[in-house]
Amino acid sequence: MHAFLHIFALCAPFLSYTDRSIEIQALTSFKLNLHDPLGALDGWDTSSPEVPCDWRGVACNNDRVTELRLPRLQLGGRLSERLSELSMLKKISLRSNFFNGSISSSLMECKLLRFLFLQDNAFSGNVPPEIGNLTGLQIFNVAQNHISGTIPRELPLSLKYLDLSSNIFSGEIPETVANLSHLQLINLSYNELSGEILVTFGELQKLQYLWLDHNFLGGTLPSALANFSSLVHLSAEGNALGGVLPSAISALPKLQVISLSRNNLTGSIPLIFCLCFFLPITSTTLIPL
Ligand SMILES: *[C@@H]1O[C@H](CO)[C@@H](O)[C@H](O)[C@H]1NC(C)=O
Ligand SMILES: *[C@@H]1O[C@H](CO)[C@@H](O)[C@H](O)[C@H]1NC(C)=O
Ligand SMILES: *[C@@H]1O[C@H](CO)[C@@H](O)[C@H](O)[C@H]1NC(C)=O
Ligand SMILES: *[C@@H]1O[C@H](CO)[C@@H](O)[C@H](O)[C@H]1NC(C)=O
Ligand SMILES: *[C@@H]1O[C@H](CO)[C@@H](O)[C@H](O)[C@H]1NC(C)=O
Ligand SMILES: *[C@@H]1O[C@H](CO)[C@@H](O)[C@H](O)[C@H]1NC(C)=O
Repeated sequence: MHAFLHIFALCAPFLSYTDRSIEIQALTSFKLNLHDPLGALDGWDTSSPEVPCDWRGVACNNDRVTELRLPRLQLGGRLSERLSELSMLKKISLRSNFFNGSISSSLMECKLLRFLFLQDNAFSGNVPPEIGNLTGLQIFNVAQNHISGTIPRELPLSLKYLDLSSNIFSGEIPETVANLSHLQLINLSYNELSGEILVTFGELQKLQYLWLDHNFLGGTLPSALANFSSLVHLSAEGNALGGVLPSAISALPKLQVISLSRNNLTGSIPLIFCLCFFLPITSTTLIPL
């Protein structure tokens, strides 16, 4: 009897092993993995009243962690695999830090993720194909990292905003990109992509911004681009595109910027667009953080 009580006492903490304590442990593991020179997460105290919902950068809904937002805090190191235990997470913003290592497939176990802002860090390795499991993902921004390999074929069909710019992605743009019918922005600029621009791209009826600058894309500009009825911005500067600029492009109703210099294209750009080359092009943010 005495022994039984003793064992019960030892196990008691585990009987209250709730979703909350799992999330506290997952966040603590995330913090312990990090290099935090500014002490940004010093206030992550397990005795705070609303732990972990009152921690810096953490937001909850119904006591479950739904957001982790820690931009611009000089945080470095690898992402803990245990982030996968934050199963209600909808938004992660860790942009403009010094995170490194690969974006692990365990992150793709957070099935409810809608917004993933990992741009301007030092992530390397490949984007795991399990990204296709995030069936509600709307924004995937990993611009300005050192990510290599090919663009995954299995991107979620829910994507609206795909920014893979300024990395080392290589190979061809997978034809499955044409399936992403909700896309409003694709930025693949400053990579090492080769092959041709797909004809099927023309099926992306909601696409407003197409940035393909500074890759090794060849072939011609498909006249199917003229089918992008929502297109506002088309740039593919500094590639190896040849042939004739499809005249139908000038008929696109919303097009404001067309930037195709440093290719081998011939044909003329209608005067109305030429004006744009002399206007300062301000950076466009579709969806603010
Ligand atoms: C990753 O970041 C940590 C902390 O900033 C650093 O100590 C480590 O050297 C980095 N690793 C690599 C491979 O760059
Ligand atoms: C992704 O989904 C597949 C099934 O579609 C499953 O086998 C795999 O374990 C999932 N991976 C992750 C990381 O959730
Ligand atoms: C696309 O990527 C390039 C290079 O990273 C960047 O300069 C540009 O501002 C991006 N465009 C948008 C709309 O985000
Ligand atoms: C995606 O596109 C590929 C090739 O373009 C096609 O074979 C496939 O059926 C599409 N998948 C979905 C889910 O639409
Ligand atoms: C143009 O868009 C329509 C959908 O509105 C699509 O059915 C058609 O295949 C597209 N044409 C080309 C050449 O991509
Ligand atoms: C453009 O064409 C010229 C002559 O055919 C060739 O020498 C040059 O390498 C081409 N440039 C690009 C960027 O493809």
